[in-house]
Amino acid sequence: MTELPRPARDSWKTSAGFVLALVGSAVGLGNLWRFAYTASTGGGAAFVLVYLLFVFGIGIPILTAELAIGRATGTSPIRALDRIGGPRWRRVGGMFVFAGFAVLSYYSVIMGWVGRVLVDSIRGAIPSDTAGYFAGISTGVGAVLFHLTGIAITALVVQGGIRRGIERAATILMPTLFILLAALAIWSFTLSGAGAGYAFFLRPKLDSLLDGRVIAGAAGQAFFSLSLGMGAIITYASYLQGQQSLPGQAVIVGLGDTSVALLGGLVTFPIVFHFGLADVVLANPSGALFIALPQAFQQLGAAGTLLGAIFFLALYIAAITSAFSMLEVVVSGLIDGWGAPRRRATLLVAVAAALAGIPAALSLDYLSFIDKLVGEALIVLGGVFIAVLTGWVWSRGAAAELTRGFPHPRLQFAWIWLLRTVVPIVLAITFVTTVRQLGPLAEALF
Ligand code: PHE
Repeated sequence: MTELPRPARDSWKTSAGFVLALVGSAVGLGNLWRFAYTASTGGGAAFVLVYLLFVFGIGIPILTAELAIGRATGTSPIRALDRIGGPRWRRVGGMFVFAGFAVLSYYSVIMGWVGRVLVDSIRGAIPSDTAGYFAGISTGVGAVLFHLTGIAITALVVQGGIRRGIERAATILMPTLFILLAALAIWSFTLSGAGAGYAFFLRPKLDSLLDGRVIAGAAGQAFFSLSLGMGAIITYASYLQGQQSLPGQAVIVGLGDTSVALLGGLVTFPIVFHFGLADVVLANPSGALFIALPQAFQQLGAAGTLLGAIFFLALYIAAITSAFSMLEVVVSGLIDGWGAPRRRATLLVAVAAALAGIPAALSLDYLSFIDKLVGEALIVLGGVFIAVLTGWVWSRGAAAELTRGFPHPRLQFAWIWLLRTVVPIVLAITFVTTVRQLGPLAEALF
C-alpha cells in the first residue's frame, strides 16, 4: 500500500472568504463596546478624525506588514518571526501568542455578558433595574458559565479548520451582522431624539484633544480594533496562497472596521437619547451597551424584545468572529510548531483560556486592568516590534512581498519609510502614555 501524502497546510478557499474572516476579526467588541464611549467622551467628531488618522496612518501600514509577514512565511507567528528576523525574534512571536491568549481569556467574559443579555432578552427576563441587573450578571457564577459557553462555541468552529470552520462561519455571519446593524441604524434614525444623539456622539469638542491620554486612547483603540499587535493578522495571512494585493485588502479591512464602529455609534446614541439615558452612558464604559440599551428596549415592550434580541445577536456575532482569530493564533502555533493535530490543539488551548478567564469573570477590576495592560499596552508594543522588523530588518523582503504581482516602487518606498520612522515613534509614545496610566504595577512589569 502506498503511503498517503501528508495533507498540505489548510488554506482559505476564496479571497472573499479571507477578507470576510479578516473583517470578522477586526469588527468586534472594540467597535461597539469601546468606540462609542471613547469617542463621545473624548471629543466627538474631533476624536473620530484623530482616530481615522491613526487607522490610516499607523494601523493600515502595520496591518499590511502583518499580512506580508504571514503570507511570505506561511507559518504561525513564532516561526514566522524567526524565519524573517532570526531566532532572537522568536521571543517577540511568543509575546504575540501570549497576547492573543490573554485577550481571548477576558474577551470571552465580555462576550459572555452579551450572550447573557441576549438570552435574557429573548426570555423576557430583564428586570427594570438594568443597572442592578448588569452588576449581577457581570461577575460571579453566571458570568463564568457564559464565558465558558463562549469559549466552547469558538473552539467548535476553530477545530473545523480554516476553510471548513472559520471561513465558512465568517461567510455566513459577517453579511448577517451588516444587515442586522444597518436595519437597527435605520430604525434608530426614526426615533425622536436621534438628532441629539448624533450631536452627542459627533459634535467636535476640540479641547479634549489637547489631552495626551485622549490621543493615546485613539491610537490604542485603532490598534485593538484592527486586531493588530498580537499575531492574529499574521496567522490569518499565513493561510493565504496567491497574489492578492495586500495594501488593497488592508484598506478594505480598515474601511469595513471603521464603518462598523461609526454605525455602532449611529445605532446606540439615538436610542440612548430618545429614552433620556445619557447620564448612564457617561457614568460607565459599559453603561451604553449593558445598562442603557436593555432599559430602552424594555420600555418598548414586545417590539423591544425583538429589537433587543437583534442588537445583542449582532454584538455576539461581532465578538465571536474576533474570538476565532485569537484562538487561531495559539492553535496554529501548536499545529505548526509541534505537529499537534488541530482538534487536540484546539481543545487544549480552549481549556487553558477558559481557566485563565475565570478571574476576569469574577472581578471587574481585574478585567479592566488586564484589558488595559494587554489589550492596549502590550499590543501597541507588539506594533513597535512589527514596524522595526519590517522597516529595518526585513525591509527588502517586505517591500517585495507588499507588491508581489504588481510592482509599485513608490508605494514600497513610502510604506517602508512610514514603518521606519513615524509609525514606531507614534506607537512608542502611545505605549509609554498607556503604561503610565496603568500605575506602578505595570511600570514595574515593563
Ligand atoms: N478587533 C477586535 C475588536 O475590535 C479585537 C481583537 C483584537 C481581535 C486583537 C483579534 C485580535 O473587538
